[in-house]
Amino acid sequence: MNSIWIDSVPKILDKSKSLDSDVSCDVTIVGGGLTGLTSAYYLSKKGLKVVVLEKDNLMFRTSGNTTAKITAQHDLFYKYLIDTFGAETAKKYLNCNLKAIDDIKHIIDDERISCDFEYQSSYVFTKSNSYVQDIKDEVKATHMLGFDSRLVNNIPLPTNNVLCAIEFPNQAQFHPRKYAYGLCNSILNNQGLIFENSKVTDIQKIKDIYSTKVGDFSVESKYVILATRYPFINAPGFYFLKMYQTLSYCASYEIPDNLFSGMYINAEQPTLSARIVKDNGKDVLLLSGCSHKVGKPSGVADPYSTLSTFARSIFPDCKMISRWVTEDSVSLDKLPYIGQFSSLMPNMYVATGFKKWGMTFSNVASNILADKILGIDNDYSDIFDSTRLHPIQNKEEMGNMIKEATSSIVIKKFTIPNDTIQSLALNEGKIIEFEGSKVGVYKNNDGDIFKVKPVCTHLGCELSWNPVNKTWDCPCHGSRFNYDGKLLYGPALHDLEVL
Ligand code: FES
Repeated sequence: MNSIWIDSVPKILDKSKSLDSDVSCDVTIVGGGLTGLTSAYYLSKKGLKVVVLEKDNLMFRTSGNTTAKITAQHDLFYKYLIDTFGAETAKKYLNCNLKAIDDIKHIIDDERISCDFEYQSSYVFTKSNSYVQDIKDEVKATHMLGFDSRLVNNIPLPTNNVLCAIEFPNQAQFHPRKYAYGLCNSILNNQGLIFENSKVTDIQKIKDIYSTKVGDFSVESKYVILATRYPFINAPGFYFLKMYQTLSYCASYEIPDNLFSGMYINAEQPTLSARIVKDNGKDVLLLSGCSHKVGKPSGVADPYSTLSTFARSIFPDCKMISRWVTEDSVSLDKLPYIGQFSSLMPNMYVATGFKKWGMTFSNVASNILADKILGIDNDYSDIFDSTRLHPIQNKEEMGNMIKEATSSIVIKKFTIPNDTIQSLALNEGKIIEFEGSKVGVYKNNDGDIFKVKPVCTHLGCELSWNPVNKTWDCPCHGSRFNYDGKLLYGPALHDLEVL
């Protein structure tokens, strides 16, 4: 199923076009999500010729499957930032995200974009005594940074047993694909080029010029921005060693009346996020949550049932309209990577690791990257330095990643599964032993069998079956493949081998 955003705005471009000739420009932007489009917007406004290359359709992956909150409240995060990096970094993080809300509003006003933008308070609430002190500490931390957050005992969301919450006033929400439509109009009016279904297969550097390959054609430019959720170039950069990926479940519900405003997330596990969306004049409840690392089981038996139970606790007669999943990248120190891709590749930039807060960070990152290309100092760029080393000093996460990679690449390779095709139930997927080899098999409800080689095409880890989404997921760096082997999410670039 598609997200509510894709269903309500199926097309961003009036005329979609793939790259069908060689082109040269100032900046090639790989990735047609919100970071790519916002970067293209800022740079084309300054008179640079930009080319955006999107492998599928614009705003179709992470940016099209979001909750579309624009906020500086990123769970309970500021105490962590102060404790880990100091108050100066925490303050910059806060201020650049608050500035992003203003900058997005300016773009909307300047370009007269009709995208359901609304200022709303954002809340992190708890129903558990164990998190009350964490919320109080977060209020103290934000006050220390000069932000007027509020500790409240009641929230507008009509859910029972809330003990307390931290409120960030004047945050915002919008319709991301309507906003992207406005960005694209401006980019095209400023002589920018946007190509869909144009998958980049290679980027070569010849003297000072990058040649970005799409099939038989190439785009030549001095600058390249990698605005994909996960950089697909393994080396140099080595982002697969510095990030992991998470999967979150989303659902929208028809509700009788909008009884509340605001944007919500709970402090405890499983995390649940809520907001109201205007859809064709009607109010719809949008929930997301139950996140887990890709390739690992969800912490709940059925994520969509968990969302629906919560929805019905607010609106007993609500009806699910749509459901979907989204994938996000998280850096090991929880700060995004925004800046130079690698010290070995001047003029190539990256923006990734937004930790589920990509609507706001798309603007932060685009400002930083546009400033870098234009040679303008940016007050916030230093805290997101993408070549920093301290993420890999996060021993716990680094240990987890090494454990995952080792068990997926080495240990599982020598494990012989007991299951056979005959033992598979309908609508079940498993790795089985077939004629002496391991095969990933899915049997659909009609009894049709789909067989793939269950080895990730990125760096060779063994895949895990995801029973909720009917996908083959990679526990190492988070690539995901449909049951029939089609690549859904990278960093892998290729489909699975079909057997
Ligand atoms: Fe890297 Fe699968 S995503 S090995």
